[in-house]
Amino acid sequence: MRFARLCSVGVWFAGLTLAAQVRAVPDRQQWFLTAGQSTYAVGVDDKNMLESLYWGPALPADATLLKAQSRAERSSNDGPMNTTPLEYPAWGGGLQLEPALKVDSPNGDRALVLVYDSSKVDSNQLEIILKDTVQPVRVHLHYQTYAEGVLARWSTVENAGRQPVRIEQAASGTWNLPAGTDYQLSWLTGQWGGEFQLHTAALLNGAQVLESRRGSTGHQANPWFSIGREGQTTETAGPVWFGELGWSGSWRINVERTALDQVRVTAGYNPYDFAYVLQAGQTLDTPHVYAGYTAGGQGEASRILHRFQLAEVLPLGPTPKPRPIIYNSWEATEFRVSEAGQMGLAEKAASLGVERFVMDDGWFGQRKDDHAGLGDWYVNKEKFPNGLKPLIDRVHTLGMSFGLWVEPEMVNPDSDLYRKHPDWAMHFPDRQRTEARNQLVLNIAKPEVKAYVFNWLDKLVTDNDIAFLKWDYNRNWSEPGWDSAPGEKGSPDAAREIYVTYVQNLYDILQKLRAKHPKLEIESCASGGGRTDAGILRYTDEVWPSDNTDALDRLSIQDGFTHAYSPQTMAAWVTDVPNYLDRRVIPLQFRFLVAMQGALGIGNDLNKFSADDMELSKRMVAFYKGVRTTVQQGRLYRLQRPEGREASQVEYVSPDGAQAVVFAYLHSQQYGMVQPQVSLQGVDPNARYRVRPLDETKYTGEAVVSGAVLLGSGLPLQLRGDYDSTAVILERQ
Ligand code: GLA
Repeated sequence: MRFARLCSVGVWFAGLTLAAQVRAVPDRQQWFLTAGQSTYAVGVDDKNMLESLYWGPALPADATLLKAQSRAERSSNDGPMNTTPLEYPAWGGGLQLEPALKVDSPNGDRALVLVYDSSKVDSNQLEIILKDTVQPVRVHLHYQTYAEGVLARWSTVENAGRQPVRIEQAASGTWNLPAGTDYQLSWLTGQWGGEFQLHTAALLNGAQVLESRRGSTGHQANPWFSIGREGQTTETAGPVWFGELGWSGSWRINVERTALDQVRVTAGYNPYDFAYVLQAGQTLDTPHVYAGYTAGGQGEASRILHRFQLAEVLPLGPTPKPRPIIYNSWEATEFRVSEAGQMGLAEKAASLGVERFVMDDGWFGQRKDDHAGLGDWYVNKEKFPNGLKPLIDRVHTLGMSFGLWVEPEMVNPDSDLYRKHPDWAMHFPDRQRTEARNQLVLNIAKPEVKAYVFNWLDKLVTDNDIAFLKWDYNRNWSEPGWDSAPGEKGSPDAAREIYVTYVQNLYDILQKLRAKHPKLEIESCASGGGRTDAGILRYTDEVWPSDNTDALDRLSIQDGFTHAYSPQTMAAWVTDVPNYLDRRVIPLQFRFLVAMQGALGIGNDLNKFSADDMELSKRMVAFYKGVRTTVQQGRLYRLQRPEGREASQVEYVSPDGAQAVVFAYLHSQQYGMVQPQVSLQGVDPNARYRVRPLDETKYTGEAVVSGAVLLGSGLPLQLRGDYDSTAVILERQ
């Protein structure tokens, strides 16, 4: 190696100095990207094509790899395009596997063969430019390393010619895994009321497609993947290759194990119904994908994503304030909101120690139920004769900030807005508009619709002292037409740009709103967790993971959620029993301790609370305040996962290691069996910890315990019967 260039930044986290660096080795045309404790490497091969070379544990700063060599044709049916681990394979030159890019040129040439053109290293960023051998199409591959252990990748497709070209498919990147036949894939699926269900299964030959064709992220699958090795990877140990796509529109992650046993992951825009026309000189950016490798099992993969989201993704990072404790009136009142009713609830909420009062749906237009009103964002004078000010003032006097529900991208056909602008709703000419929850989707890809949405939101937040918006989005797309698409006006291809432009405009609105109102915080809600992804988290502070607030169901929903997203972003409420969804009755303490796994909220009808309920709630809120930063910003250990088990436990350790908190749940007890103790994780074996149990009677151990004992045998807890629960704080001495 004659010469190497190194650019590096570092971060200190939990006793480790982690690096983010890009090292170029020009004489071998290789680049090494180190992110935390992992390295990713790419290189140019003998055919001038860019190959993936390495993805695994961090390599030393002087590590070298052999010059990349394209693979031979295996047979006439498996040419080099399919046997070579290409870093960004375009469809062309005999590629039969999943392409990262497919483009159609005006002369009928539908192929691309991308070769290396040039590269640029800037601090912890790398840009490699590839160009087609024939057409004036260039692709900029962008890489950015983060010391938290994440490598971000995205690509920009550029039409460097004079004629328009049409993109049919564009991925952010392709990842090639090391050779192996023992991979297992973990992924998240869901449904309304049952989001974030985790699955793990052997990765067999063929492709597994994780996707949304819905125009938004979707409940049904989440843009996250995690790949381990059978027999090696567990929650606490073993290799994990993982990633998540930062995009809130239709997306696809294609996980392919080829017939020749190569494993590759391609993530980006969903090619279904997709087209994007690039006029001369135009570019298209693909979404960011945040990927990583760890040898520390699924738990460590999650913790890397959590600390990365706090430091680099969330709008108020790198040190976002922990989320306040909110009260939300939805389950208590549904659409029946009024000034007096909300004030009454606010008074009770404040007495519990709640910090933010949020009024949900029903305050605007002719909104009596879900049949009317969306689009008419004026205050309903029957419910609030004096506007929102008296309520907001009262909430402030009670020492809380005020939040409000909005659903800006939607319109009810029964609304003044729709009567005035029926063409603003997505539709195909002459075809019936499919309603869902009696509403249609506004096409915010249109500049005039985007402007309307921004303007009323801006006015609402300017005219009222609003600290927080619960931004809802309650249906998927149908008839995604765009009758005045830019470019070739009216061309069917240009109309398909809606898949990109709609989401870009959504991000723009959020960004502009936040820039103009820097104190405003926003929650992403979509009938629960239907818009949870690392793209929306750039503009929103938290997510509503599910409309299902049953505490038992929530345990597995939250377990799945934390595989991909930080507990700080996970809004969780205590609500009434019997639960509205499944009539299950669970004790109040259990409900509180489940909601304390993330950003605690309360959604009960406080008018029905007994004095005992109020007392217990006050105690729970005070307990949460003492551990909130540890829960939201610390390291999460899923000690005993809930699915299919009678009991579960989670533990959080504060970033400085001074505090840990354990939440323990007994879902149901059978045969009087006492639950075995569960070993803790992440505490210092050489330290001693003072134990502060929430319930003195449920902890039978000593007052001060060594970290080694906690790691070896855990906490002796006495839980009995169905839905018993407790929590224990550990303070490092
Ligand atoms: C959606 C949300 C709920 C609530 C209602 C209001 O279903 O997920 O939390 O805000 O809308 O209509």
